[in-house]
Amino acid sequence: MRMIDKRVIITAAASGMGRAGSIRFAAEGAKIAAVDIDQDSLNETIDEIRNAGGEAHGILADLSNSDSCRSSMIEARNALGGIDVLWAHAGCPGPTGIEEVELDQYEQTMDLNVRSAFLTAAEVIKPMRVAGGGSIIFTASIGGLVGSMLSPVYSATKSAIVGMTRSMAYRLAKENIRVNTICPGLTDTPMLPKFLSRGADAAQSAKNTEKYRAEVPMGRLAKPEEIASAVLFLASDDASYVTGISLPVDGGFICH
Ligand SMILES: NC(=O)c1ccc[n+]([C@@H]2O[C@H](COP(=O)([O-])OP(=O)(O)OC[C@H]3O[C@@H](n4cnc5c(N)ncnc54)[C@H](O)[C@@H]3O)[C@@H](O)[C@H]2O)c1
Repeated sequence: MRMIDKRVIITAAASGMGRAGSIRFAAEGAKIAAVDIDQDSLNETIDEIRNAGGEAHGILADLSNSDSCRSSMIEARNALGGIDVLWAHAGCPGPTGIEEVELDQYEQTMDLNVRSAFLTAAEVIKPMRVAGGGSIIFTASIGGLVGSMLSPVYSATKSAIVGMTRSMAYRLAKENIRVNTICPGLTDTPMLPKFLSRGADAAQSAKNTEKYRAEVPMGRLAKPEEIASAVLFLASDDASYVTGISLPVDGGFICH
């Protein structure tokens, strides 16, 4: 087991990659504080971990609200008795367009994808410093590394995460706080069809997914568990000399 007694906070933990990560980290011995806005799905994640003999605490929070970002981190730390790892995973697809985008759509996307990552990280740095170190992992996307036809606003938020990762890593390196980012490719979670098919019906949604899947060199979507494995590496002592990177886990998508 690679994470025995590590105290781990994961946001957007009730579904998809966040849920897979919560379950995997717990199986590796970590104590989990799972933060999400969806109480029922959060309960399912917590139950699954506890039924397998692990320790997990559910923290209900809307991370698009700045006060909730801060208070959820305090609640999570209190539940765990400290913090060793934060995976700030929350994000949303946002609007698809450019000229027609309303300011509030733009701001909501920035608030969840960038501000919540910044604020949740800011809230855990001091306790990590006092404890002698820690590991922060953000979630960006291949959309933060290469251009995408699908949504310039989303790409802007994920590029912001990539830049913030380098600067936070630089600034915190001497304090033994590592900061890295995972850049998932097309991953089989409830968000993917929403992202690829905003506004489309079910048939068009399936066609869109197939079109983008065919562009993946490995010819398939990622499983959430494959993203969780890479996050586990970045969080663990196996990555003790790794900081400031944005790691694509994308089946080769950005090779072309
Ligand atoms: N699925 C993909 O193909 C893909 C690819 C690259 C990056 N991402 C990124 O992964 C993250 C999403 O993960 P997923 O694909 O596992 O999605 P998902 O839809 O399976 O899960 C998203 C979770 O976020 C929670 N959530 C939504 N709004 C919230 C809020 N305001 N406050 C707290 N929780 C909230 C939902 O309740 C849900 O549990 C995002 O940052 C997204 O940009 C996804």
